[in-house]
Amino acid sequence: MTGHSETDRHARMMQALHAFGRSQRKGDPATPPIVSSVKFNLPGDPEAPFVYGRYGTPTLEATEAALGALEGAPVIGFPSGMAAVTAALFSSVKSGDRLLLPSDGYFAVRALIAEFLEILGVKADYVPTPALSTHSLGGYSLVWVETPSNPGLDICDLQRLASRTKLAGIPLIADNTTATPFLQPVLDLGADISICSDTKAVSGHGDALFGHVASRNEGFMARVRAWRKMSGSTPGPWESFLVQRGLQTLDVRLQRMCTNAKAVAELASNHAKIRNVRYPGLETDPCNALAAQQMSDFGFLVGLTFSDAATAEQFIEHTASIYPSTSFGAVHTSGERRARWGDAVPEGYVRLSVGCEPTSHLLRSLKDSLDAL
Ligand SMILES: Cc1ncc(COP(=O)(O)O)c(C=O)c1O
Repeated sequence: MTGHSETDRHARMMQALHAFGRSQRKGDPATPPIVSSVKFNLPGDPEAPFVYGRYGTPTLEATEAALGALEGAPVIGFPSGMAAVTAALFSSVKSGDRLLLPSDGYFAVRALIAEFLEILGVKADYVPTPALSTHSLGGYSLVWVETPSNPGLDICDLQRLASRTKLAGIPLIADNTTATPFLQPVLDLGADISICSDTKAVSGHGDALFGHVASRNEGFMARVRAWRKMSGSTPGPWESFLVQRGLQTLDVRLQRMCTNAKAVAELASNHAKIRNVRYPGLETDPCNALAAQQMSDFGFLVGLTFSDAATAEQFIEHTASIYPSTSFGAVHTSGERRARWGDAVPEGYVRLSVGCEPTSHLLRSLKDSLDAL
C-alpha cells in the first residue's frame, strides 16, 4: 500500500504527539490548557499573539498545530466539518463559476451549494466518484472530490485527477473525512486543499464537533482565515481540547478499527443474508487496487446491503454491538440505513462504522445477529 510510506505517516504522528510539548518553558502544563477567555491583555498597539476569542485561542492553536503535523501543512480549524466545507467553498468561488463535484458524496455539500451558492450565480455539475478522474474539466473553476465516498465507499484516483486539475490550472479540494489524513495524504497525492470533519475518526469519541481546512497555498489560507474571522466560524476551546486529545490515539484506534472492519467485511461476504458488501480492503471490491494505491489502510466503514429496509433495520436493532446512530468514526461500532436520509443507495444498505471493540467479540455478536435474521 502506497498512500504514504509508513515512515512518513509515523513521522507525522510523532510530530502531532509532540507538537505541544516542544514549545514549552520549564513549569508549563503537559497538555494544552483549556483557555476559555475571549479577552486577552491588549493595551496600546493591538498586535499580539492572541487578541480576541473569535480570532483564535491558545487551545485552538495547539489543536491546529497537531492537525497540521498530521497533514504536513498549515491547518485552520472550524466548529464542524460543514463549517470547514463552507469556508473552503466561500473562499474559492465567485459568481459565474462552474464546479465539478461527486454525485455520491456527503449530501449536505450538494444541499449547501443548491441553497446558498446557486442563487449567487454558481453552477455545479455532479458525476459519480470513480468517473471524476477522467471527466472533462473544460469550463470548470474548481473540482471537489471525496474518497472513499460517503456512503457508497467508491474511490477516485486522486493522483490521476490531481495531475489533470493541475494541467487545467484549477484547484482540487479533497474531503478526506472517511479516510483521515493519517490513512490518506491527499495533499501529497496532489490535492490543493484538504478538508476533514474531525467530528469523526480524528477526534474519535463522538463527543466533539470540529472540522479543518489544510493547504500549502498561502494565498488561499489567508482567505480562509479571513473568512473565519469575519463569519465568526471559530471553534471553541473545549472542542479544540477534545480534538487534540482524541487525535493522539488516532494511529492505534485506526489500527484496531481497520483490522475489525476487514474482518467484518469478510464475515459479511460469506453470509447468505447479505446481498452485497462494499469495503475497499476486500480483494473482490471494485475499488481494491485503487485503494491500495493511495491509502495506507482501507478504513473503518463497511457497506452492507440486505434484501430490504426491514431486514436491514432488524439487523441494526437486534445487534447489541451496533449503536444505532448517524455519524461515524467513534470507538464503538455504529450503523444506520442511509436510504432513510434519501441517499442514492439501496433501501437495505447499511453503513457500518466499525469501532475498536475486541475483534472476536465483535465478530461473534455480528454473526449471531446475522444468523438470527
Ligand atoms: C464526508 C463528510 N464530509 C463532511 C461532513 C460534515 O461534517 P460535520 O458533521 O462535522 O459537519 C460529513 C459528516 O458526516 C461527512 O461524512
